[in-house]
Amino acid sequence: MANSEDLFKNIISHAKEYGFIFQSSEIYDGLSAVYDYGQNGSLLKNNIREYWWKAMVQLNENITGIDAAIFMHPTTWKASGHVDAFNDPLIDNRDSKKRYRADVLIEEHVAKIEAKIEKEVEKAAKRFENFDAVLYRTTNPRVAEYQKKIDEINLRFKTALETGDLAEVKQIIVDCEIVDPVSGTRNWTDVRQFNLMFSTQMGSVTEDANVIYLRPETAQGIFVNFLNVQKTGRMKIPFGIAQTGKAFRNEIVARQFIFRMREFEQMEMQYFVKPGTEMEWYNRWKEKRMNWHRTLGIPAEKYRFHDHLKLAHYANAACDIEFEFPFGFKELEGIHSRTDFDLKNHEKFSGKKLQYFDTDDNQNYIPYVVETSIGLDRMFLAVLSHSYKEEKFASANPSSGGLSDGSKRVVLQIPPFLAPIKVGVFPLVAKDGLPEKAHEIFNTLRYEQQCFYEEKDTIGRRYRRQDAIGTPYCITIDHQTLQDNTVTLRDRDTMQQERINVSEVSRVVNEKVDVRQWLKRL
Ligand code: GAP
Repeated sequence: MANSEDLFKNIISHAKEYGFIFQSSEIYDGLSAVYDYGQNGSLLKNNIREYWWKAMVQLNENITGIDAAIFMHPTTWKASGHVDAFNDPLIDNRDSKKRYRADVLIEEHVAKIEAKIEKEVEKAAKRFENFDAVLYRTTNPRVAEYQKKIDEINLRFKTALETGDLAEVKQIIVDCEIVDPVSGTRNWTDVRQFNLMFSTQMGSVTEDANVIYLRPETAQGIFVNFLNVQKTGRMKIPFGIAQTGKAFRNEIVARQFIFRMREFEQMEMQYFVKPGTEMEWYNRWKEKRMNWHRTLGIPAEKYRFHDHLKLAHYANAACDIEFEFPFGFKELEGIHSRTDFDLKNHEKFSGKKLQYFDTDDNQNYIPYVVETSIGLDRMFLAVLSHSYKEEKFASANPSSGGLSDGSKRVVLQIPPFLAPIKVGVFPLVAKDGLPEKAHEIFNTLRYEQQCFYEEKDTIGRRYRRQDAIGTPYCITIDHQTLQDNTVTLRDRDTMQQERINVSEVSRVVNEKVDVRQWLKRL
């Protein structure tokens, strides 16, 4: 298996080669951090979205879904705090003309010092028997010196951010002697705050045009509709409103393929609860969301919680579910206890009451909110990177479909219900009446599942192409089919084939890819 950097590169080129993800407007050399989903990618993305929707909306009686507009009244973003506070500190290097997030430069510098500590500890562990790493970290003078540096930087940085002292943020970069990785120089500009919202204008004449924003999160469409849904749906607290849809952020540094994009999709749910009960719901939703991830069959150790120590101004608790991507553990989903911050501010800015009348307690209140928020594209990357397997066989594998070079294959072991194509239907050869019989089967199955028909090329190559896009099952129609009405059903992961009667094909396939098996694990 390739090292993780190579592996990630291989995954990216595989995603392009097999129609999952293309760079946006590639013929014009692309648009940075914007991607298009191809024929297989859009199917996989739809399936992930649908699985989330079924788990959140269909299976929870007290969660309902909406589809709010991307454009919202501009005051929405004043009320939510995004106009004033949705900023990243940026800095430019005058020589390379590259732009960086100042906080990321500092964090990367700290990570380098941490790596030096790890190296010292590793070296010492090799030198001494019965090595006590904890004791070494607290007593070794060199390690203590590094740790002191880290603590100093972290404290200065935290204070600078809290007080909004951007000159101090720059001074930290200068004092740490951080160089631009491209130019190698320290020729930095001042640090400026950069608002991440994209803006545009609504209205035909420039004079009366209003600045409006492309939503940076879908959540606000839920907040402003809170009472509409509660009243028309006769919802009783606690209840949730879910939504999936595009969000836009003018990220300063957009790297790592579809991990950080400027246009992306979120799947969010706001759960409205009685004030004072929010921590109980926050803990329940942490558990429920982690459970959703685990139903996919991805090993538990690929996920971990990361509790936020520094909370956003609106939160009284927050954590991330992190996933081990090929470039390390990174945020996949956020779970936030957002208090009544959003509803209270929308009430204030709109002048409209956003309160709930609790018939049990005979009182009005603004509910508290627990939010679960996952990036669909990040989830796509998690599924894609975990499913991608480069397999090598010691010798030609007899069940590989007769491919004479049968020593390697790339297979996407996507959970069957998420796979873009569920079944490949192939006549063994394109003659002797086999294509006609195969078409008959294909024309029945296509009403039930996303199928793919192909008759060109050797059967082994056709199997390989389906393995590469994660098709869990392939049906092959051969000469025996014409005699006894049986076909072979090939399993992507084991590459084993079994013969089944044509009359059984649709039942067997439908059962194998039936999403209910996974939903029942929730
Ligand atoms: N409403 C809360 C909210 O938007 P967030 O932590 O900023 O919280 C939630 O975003 C999720 O959206 C993240 O966990 C991540 O999966 C996804 N996300 C955020 N920014 C993204 C970006 N630039 N590209 C892709 N996904 C992103």
